[in-house]
Amino acid sequence: MQGAKLWNSNHRPEHVKPDLEATLKDLQLDYIDSFVIHWPQAVPSTGKSLTLRPNGCFPAHHSKNTMFPLDDEGYYCADLESHYVETWAAMEELVDLGLTKSIGLSNFNRMQVEEVLKNAKKYTPAVLQNESHPYLHEKDLRDFCRTHNIVFQAYSALGSADRPWRVAGSITSGVPKAGYEVLGHPDIAKIAEKYGKSTANVVLRWHLQMGGAFVCKSVTPSRIKENFQIWDFELSSEDMNVMDKLNIGWRHLLWAETSMHPDYPFKDCLPYDYKLGKPGVGSTAGAK
Ligand SMILES: NC(=O)c1ccc[n+]([C@@H]2O[C@H](COP(=O)([O-])OP(=O)(O)OC[C@H]3O[C@@H](n4cnc5c(N)ncnc54)[C@H](OP(=O)(O)O)[C@@H]3O)[C@@H](O)[C@H]2O)c1
Repeated sequence: MQGAKLWNSNHRPEHVKPDLEATLKDLQLDYIDSFVIHWPQAVPSTGKSLTLRPNGCFPAHHSKNTMFPLDDEGYYCADLESHYVETWAAMEELVDLGLTKSIGLSNFNRMQVEEVLKNAKKYTPAVLQNESHPYLHEKDLRDFCRTHNIVFQAYSALGSADRPWRVAGSITSGVPKAGYEVLGHPDIAKIAEKYGKSTANVVLRWHLQMGGAFVCKSVTPSRIKENFQIWDFELSSEDMNVMDKLNIGWRHLLWAETSMHPDYPFKDCLPYDYKLGKPGVGSTAGAK
């Protein structure tokens, strides 16, 4: 299966098809299976031109090597004239053109998914790809998706151990105790031992039993192989109860540096005293 995401600076309806066409060219394909809007909040493209890979975005302040334009003070810019409902209409045309089999959303909150559902003309979202792992179950959102025939697809399914949160923590719940990253949690390790499986196997099996799909990533061939070994065991209801207790609403891919945008999806996860930050190492950014 081949999937891709719409670049945040190409939300303007006239930029949507060229964005996918550039991806298809990169992949040397005529169509893909799934194309999702990466985030609901749009950032500006480069003036009047498209922001197409491989050139990326070249605004005046691209020198800081960020993915999207910065203003004079070094903060992210927002495209306030763009709204995801208009972007969705352009996404729908891609299905009719045969460039993607299905279209979906990513990092949208429930209200935003609902707004897209209400305004969709022909095609509703096939998938919602959001952060979810044993520390962030998203049960309500999963239920909402099920009722509306949307596949909930967890990203950061294994807890993204290679991202900066391990050191820098998440502004939602701080730094996990040493050794308490998702794959190192002793309760998950105990379950893994019981079945003779790895902690990654247990977490991925848990995703399956939660009823959604997931995407996980490894650059290690033996782990890629290992991550498929989840079909020959089943977590008991007691094990699922243990997993239930790990849910602490710990979201780390916040991209809070764009939270000035009215369409920013996770405002309720930001501390009341959060002050808009600049993009930087160890930041809350999901986009670096
Ligand atoms: N829609 C979005 O905004 C969004 C945001 C983030 C990610 N995603 C998608 O989600 C995918 C996964 O996210 P992610 O990479 O952040 O997180 P992840 O899959 O939860 O975690 C990846 C980390 O887990 C390690 N790992 C994988 N299998 C393992 C195993 N069996 N045992 C021990 N460690 C293991 C990897 O190490 P090694 O690679 O070193 O083996 C890597 O450090 C991405 O590829 C991306 O497509 C989407």
